[in-house]
Amino acid sequence: MTRLKSVYPLYLNNVAQQPNTDLAVTDKFTGEIAFRVARADVATIDTAIAGAVEAAEPMARMASYERQAVLTHCVTRFTERYDELAYALCVEAGKPIKDSEGEVGRLIDTFRIAAEESVRMNGEVQTLDISARAKGYQGMWKRVPIGPCSFISPFNFPLNLAAHKIAPALAVGCPFVMKPASRTPLGAIIIGEVLAETDLPKGAFSILPTSRDGADLFTTDDRLKLLSFTGSPDVGWDLKTRSGKKKVVLELGGNAAVIVDADADLDDALERVIFGAFYQSGQSCIGVQRIIIHADVYDRFRDMLVARTKTLVAGDPKQRDTFIGPMIDVKEATRLETWINEAVAAGGTLLCGGSRDGAMLGATLLEAVPAHTRIVTEEAFGPVAVLSSFTDFNAALAEGNASKFGLQAGVFTRDLFKMFDAWDHLDVGGVVINDVPSYRVDNMPYGGVKDSGLGREGVRFAMEDMTEIRNLVIRRP
Ligand code: SIN
Repeated sequence: MTRLKSVYPLYLNNVAQQPNTDLAVTDKFTGEIAFRVARADVATIDTAIAGAVEAAEPMARMASYERQAVLTHCVTRFTERYDELAYALCVEAGKPIKDSEGEVGRLIDTFRIAAEESVRMNGEVQTLDISARAKGYQGMWKRVPIGPCSFISPFNFPLNLAAHKIAPALAVGCPFVMKPASRTPLGAIIIGEVLAETDLPKGAFSILPTSRDGADLFTTDDRLKLLSFTGSPDVGWDLKTRSGKKKVVLELGGNAAVIVDADADLDDALERVIFGAFYQSGQSCIGVQRIIIHADVYDRFRDMLVARTKTLVAGDPKQRDTFIGPMIDVKEATRLETWINEAVAAGGTLLCGGSRDGAMLGATLLEAVPAHTRIVTEEAFGPVAVLSSFTDFNAALAEGNASKFGLQAGVFTRDLFKMFDAWDHLDVGGVVINDVPSYRVDNMPYGGVKDSGLGREGVRFAMEDMTEIRNLVIRRP
């Protein structure tokens, strides 16, 4: 039986430290304190940033094979610690155990991809003699690490969304300071434990749980050259205004749409849409929130969705048959319950779910909900989806785009032309055909447009953000 320790350290300049102050982290299903994690104060964060500045040059000098060896070590150790990591997620995030195991698999994928990419940071030789004044000149460019990075990761994927920042940084040779979400810091702490087994230069990494109030330096300190934040849109855009001269990458939220056309294989679409709407209790930036169904199949697909939703097992995330666990806390579940009630008061119809017990919110489907209500326009980030119908495919695309967000969208259709229309016209970072917007493989470009963010993750794309192009011009006299 997997057990967690009762106290975990923070990592300051590669070394485990146990200061006097700590954060209590609860088991999100029982509500009891599960363990304590050391908490960084402002002086500690300042020391970590100074350490990262010192580490920038030795990190940049590491050979590709040395960076690859660090990443490969992580892959090996995460594989050995698979059960422990999954259990940690299940406890600290309330994530059902099968989803937790899936996330550990993705953590391993992300580090494996980074290990492969770390030896492929190539540049280009460029023809410069495009006119007489450049005759005899040759150009070439390469990528160099941007320098110390600041990472702020969210509660919903404590391991893999930390990995999407840490692994590319190690692949290119950037030191970093990371603030994991204070409600789910353990995933990142265990990554720190594994990194501390390597011989990375001192100051290469600091993992510093802290409350939001103490965290300003992660955003404002000019010694840090890049801020990569994943979390809520309001917080992300506010951080950007305070980030000074640093480059900013924002992976924010959405109210993702899936379009189910009349020719879709409804049995196949059913399982995927149910998964997309309700996995990890809808707490994913690309969880299905709006289900836009062709009128010819609307009644049938709605009835299938409602019947299947009612079979989902809710309860203790540690049980293998549980599909719906708790939301991250009672406050979030109450917020979403209010939005559901608001939608019903505005004329929407509750098809199933809608009831709450503490942090457990039932899997909820609604239809005929007015387009201005928060359950439609804002990011629900919980187990709720809203159904609507269309007759013209272009109108369905327009409805998908009728959002301030634009992260990913899904389209179920067998029509090749409609697939390309969707790819051309959906204003999002990624279109997924015959699957839900919630689908992500960790090497693909991932990120949003509009209020959903700036920049792309997906290892290779994050590596580009974490480097600068350095050009070389050679004149042959
Ligand atoms: C997110 O919530 O943005 C991450 C989704 C994922 O990595 O699958």
